[in-house]
Amino acid sequence: MRIDIISVMPELLEGPFAHSIIKRAVERGVAEVVVHNLRDYSVKSTGRVDDYPYGGGAGMVMQVEPIDRLITKLKGERRYDEVIFMSPDGERFTQGMANGLSLMENIIILCGHYKGVDYRVREHLVTREVSIGDYVLTGGELPAAVVADAVVRLLPGAMGDEQSALTDSFQDGMVEAPIYTRPAEYRGWRVPEVLLSGHERRIEEWRYEQSVERTRRLRPELLTMNNEQ
Ligand code: ADE
Repeated sequence: MRIDIISVMPELLEGPFAHSIIKRAVERGVAEVVVHNLRDYSVKSTGRVDDYPYGGGAGMVMQVEPIDRLITKLKGERRYDEVIFMSPDGERFTQGMANGLSLMENIIILCGHYKGVDYRVREHLVTREVSIGDYVLTGGELPAAVVADAVVRLLPGAMGDEQSALTDSFQDGMVEAPIYTRPAEYRGWRVPEVLLSGHERRIEEWRYEQSVERTRRLRPELLTMNNEQ
């Protein structure tokens, strides 16, 4: 899978991709993540890619032309399944969406900045608008890194067997059961006996019960969502 990320601050994406599972997945050839500096496609000699809003108002607006130039160039090189714009008013990002995106061949993620982008970008170039939550960040770079991380780790071969993505919280619509490691007792805090018993079936049952109980307590809406599906 290939992910092209368009940004006016590509440096912000260096950290997340220089480490972690994404880096390993890229090294293994499981994923290709390419970050583009939108300023390289500026129509001005200054490299600026924003301008004042028509009709007045505070804040600068990202121009349509540099974004169109870059997206058109990319589309000339390969077919893209989605052009995603990261925006706080987009569709809420979920595990289900990450699963869907992980099946795609090529996607573009456009990071917003300033007051926003010229609305023609959203009308004509973008196929999907995605938000990582109901709060406003300074730009779309961190949200893009969140989406790329959640998607890449699902790709076959991205993670070792020891970290199967299939057993994650939310993958089956429930919160995970508690996990523990050695020592069995620390400052009088004991690991539940059942986990030390070696009794596989009882452990499985315990994990399932815990998962249901924690989901009911922490994220009750997940149980109703599962029943509605
Ligand atoms: N850009 C700024 N805030 C955002 C958010 N919450 N989700 C996606 N993109 C954003």
